[in-house]
Amino acid sequence: MATLWQGRFSADPSQSLQALNDSLRFDQRMFPQDIAGSRAHVRMLCEVGLLTESERDEILSALDQVLAELSDGSFEFAGSDEDIHTAVERRVCELAVAGAKLHTGRSRNDQVATDLRLWTKAAVDEVVALVQGLQRTLLESAESAGEAHLPGYTHLQQAQPVLLAHHLLAHGWALARDVDRLVAASARLDISPLGAGALAGSSLPLDPQMCADELGFAGVFDNSLDAVSDRDFVAEVLFALALLGVHLSRIGEELVLWASSEFGFVALDEAFSTGSSMMPQKQNPDIAELARAKAGRLIGHLTGLLATLKGLPLTYNKDLQEDKEPLFDAVDTVLLTVSALNGMISTLEFNTDRMAESAASPYAAATDLAEWLVLRGMPFRQAHEVVGGLVRRSIEGEGGFVELVAASDILGPDAARLAEPGASVTRRNTHGGGPGSRPRRPPPPRRNPHGGGSPAAVALQIQRFRALLGLSTGPR
Ligand code: ARG
Repeated sequence: MATLWQGRFSADPSQSLQALNDSLRFDQRMFPQDIAGSRAHVRMLCEVGLLTESERDEILSALDQVLAELSDGSFEFAGSDEDIHTAVERRVCELAVAGAKLHTGRSRNDQVATDLRLWTKAAVDEVVALVQGLQRTLLESAESAGEAHLPGYTHLQQAQPVLLAHHLLAHGWALARDVDRLVAASARLDISPLGAGALAGSSLPLDPQMCADELGFAGVFDNSLDAVSDRDFVAEVLFALALLGVHLSRIGEELVLWASSEFGFVALDEAFSTGSSMMPQKQNPDIAELARAKAGRLIGHLTGLLATLKGLPLTYNKDLQEDKEPLFDAVDTVLLTVSALNGMISTLEFNTDRMAESAASPYAAATDLAEWLVLRGMPFRQAHEVVGGLVRRSIEGEGGFVELVAASDILGPDAARLAEPGASVTRRNTHGGGPGSRPRRPPPPRRNPHGGGSPAAVALQIQRFRALLGLSTGPR
């Protein structure tokens, strides 16, 4: 068996060593990056005089053929192909006499770090594009929701009615932070390690900057030891994906609740739900459940990698080979989950009548009634007590809450209108309410509805969200 170290060893590797050690099974998906890295390396070797032009061209055309074979599936792997780097180099050597010079001044340590950075950059772009698609779906649902409202919850207890658009966009903004984090991680990983060698650079006149430029990296390593041992970028991307997964799980959990007969807020499209093998009436929200579940797996990949990295001495250690499977699986998992969830949400039917009915409890306006008193000069604590007293009297059977509010000297019929179904949600403006606590009568004009839940505030929010996604804004 031909190994990369056969000059030094007289015995063949054991089967169990190979079975544990080989990474070809999972790292062969990096072949486009491996070949791109080799191309850049070969061009650089020629530029600095370590290869003649004809040697360079011979290796480059061998690399073209290897790329074609790997792309169309005709590439024949050998038992000695420990990983994708070994496989590509072995085949290049079969195809080109000059192939034996390909590994000049290079180690698999800088090679694998280069490949994985290139792979991760492309993967992050793909994830970001898909997440933005989900954000657009949330935006479209928010835009078509109009003034539909539902109960807003804290402690999963009805709190205050909120616009459906406001609720949907809350998830959209969380995803926006995920996109930011992924983009920032991608910018930080945009450093070429090629030329670091095994760990200490090379005595050959290499030009790492040229390789970096050729591969489209924004920069080149400053420290060769760090270049081959740094896997921060994998950990960072795994964190960004894990938190994205947590956000998807929160969306998933709400969809599970909303699709239940108890809530009945949404009806699922048949193409994005499943049935039961036993109970003919069932329509199950499997996508939402899996979105909820996958977060566990993503968090596991992050903590697993951090545990692998912890305490590793400089520089490359074979432990680092354990970086790829969690990263690949995390990216695959997120891509699958985001696209299925996107399909599920874009085909949801929102039962806005059912939502409004759920939000119709007059008690839902209790906070708004207290704030109504605040706007008329009453300290909030006192207002809270006044409204709380009416809630208690109503619960104790003294009368309907709206009637009690209307009959109250302090509140009265004007205030009672706030307790009509849906009234409070259309009147709520956050961050408004004037500069001080000085008693005012009449209430100060509403202003700065930024971020609040009223239709006007949500309309502004939709515009900001459209701008974030690079969509047209302004009157439509
Ligand atoms: N398959 C290896 C990995 O994924 C490539 C680097 C091997 N380097 C070494 N010194 N054995 O990390």
